[in-house]
Amino acid sequence: MTPPFKVTAFLGAISFLLILISCKNKIEDKDSNLSATQYYKEQYRPQYHYSPDSMWMNDPNGMVYFDGEYHLFYQYYPDSIVWGPMHWGHAVSKDLIHWNHLPIALYPDSLGLIFSGSTVIDHLNTAGFGKDAMVAIFTHHNMNGEKAGRIDFQFQSIAYSLDNARSFIKYSGNPVIKNTGIKDFRDPKVIWHEKSQKWVMVLAAYDKAMFYSSSNLKDWTYTSEFGISGDNRLWECPDLFPIKVEGTDELKWVLITSIQKDGPNGGTATSYFVGDFDGKSFVGNNKNQKWLDYGADNYALVTFSNIPDGRTLAIGWMSNWQYAQQVPTKKWRSAMTIPRTLHLYKENGDFSLRSWPIAELDKIKISSVKNTRVKDSIITSIAPTSMIELSVLISHESTFKVRLSNDESEYIDLGYDSATNELYLDRTKAGLSNFNETFAARHTCPRNYMSDTLTMKLLLDHSSIEMFSDDGRSVMTDIFFPTTPFTKLEILDGSKVIDLNIAELESIW
Ligand code: FRU
Repeated sequence: MTPPFKVTAFLGAISFLLILISCKNKIEDKDSNLSATQYYKEQYRPQYHYSPDSMWMNDPNGMVYFDGEYHLFYQYYPDSIVWGPMHWGHAVSKDLIHWNHLPIALYPDSLGLIFSGSTVIDHLNTAGFGKDAMVAIFTHHNMNGEKAGRIDFQFQSIAYSLDNARSFIKYSGNPVIKNTGIKDFRDPKVIWHEKSQKWVMVLAAYDKAMFYSSSNLKDWTYTSEFGISGDNRLWECPDLFPIKVEGTDELKWVLITSIQKDGPNGGTATSYFVGDFDGKSFVGNNKNQKWLDYGADNYALVTFSNIPDGRTLAIGWMSNWQYAQQVPTKKWRSAMTIPRTLHLYKENGDFSLRSWPIAELDKIKISSVKNTRVKDSIITSIAPTSMIELSVLISHESTFKVRLSNDESEYIDLGYDSATNELYLDRTKAGLSNFNETFAARHTCPRNYMSDTLTMKLLLDHSSIEMFSDDGRSVMTDIFFPTTPFTKLEILDGSKVIDLNIAELESIW
């Protein structure tokens, strides 16, 4: 039905006024090209975590520092927002915070799709591709073999780049490791083993890790394997690196392995073992693995290679195979965790990792946010950006709760429960969840640390939260999808807060 003329004229005048007002806002905001183009402003789009420009992404691959740039490759399907024939997507950064998207680095070929793997810088030209060649080591997944019901359709191949990863040449002698009959045989991580002056590869081979060594990246010799007897969950995306115990010269080795089901809070999760490695075999200090992150959304975490300043830097895929392909984003799917430094500490004779957001994050802290005390609570408006870093110190014996909420009565609760001595993240009421029955849940993390105080750092972005407690001894990463952004942060039991700082973060896009 058409409205009468007068009403139409009135509506016309109002729309004209609204257009004028919105133009004025745009002009005032002209410093930011982003608001003019609306680039990366979609609902749920992470504002300071890496996400692909569009389409599907999973595991981080081949992360390496070279010639002033950090490279992030990742499992990528450029034709859809669900998993499909895998490529290696590519992005670079000069500071690990701001990223530039680059063209796809590796395309599927006649041998197969390009699954997860790693890259190294061949400083000594051991492979003969050239001094300082960047060599990517990845799994070829052969679809024809899989369709034909074979079990040897995953094998390892290499490719190299002589132009800072702007182009890769696949090695003509691929594959460099053939499959000897293990269906899940993938995700090579290669490191240079200084003592034996050899390359070492760790591979996920169904429910264990297999080790290989090589002097030239082309010819590999199997050396050993490591697993947990009686546990036959699928292992993926292993990593192996040496690391000193904080504050000492004691050197240990960490074997990371992502586990494809029954993680500590359901579905997929990243775990690790601490032990010793002699260039051929890994001996774990503990029988069972430890969990690097108790949240539901940190999978396939691996470390960078060739980091010049000695830090151990890692990134994980911020999702879970239980629902990764169903989450309600439209143009792209998935983001990466904030890059983290890993540290090894020894307490009561036991070795564990703690993780912490990289120091470079300070670059995007723009201002401290004011808060008000109302009775026992501390209340803060985090509108309009909904992006904050919260650092808090509380007295340890107390139960402590932070609530992030919006005007639609949706919220996330997180904190510490002194009765159970657990940290928790509860996204049961955090907004959309009907895309998967496992999504709406309360996740917990045991606290194994005795101290008079509890520290907590939270990183909130538009659809994720990362919680680092006790200096990163307990970590939880979860994603969520509120119908409108969270605008309010409330600290209940605020009287137990000893120190508090809430900083607003700025978008990297
Ligand atoms: C882990 C994983 C890897 C595999 C890749 C395929 O998320 O399943 O094992 O290489 O994803 O995209």
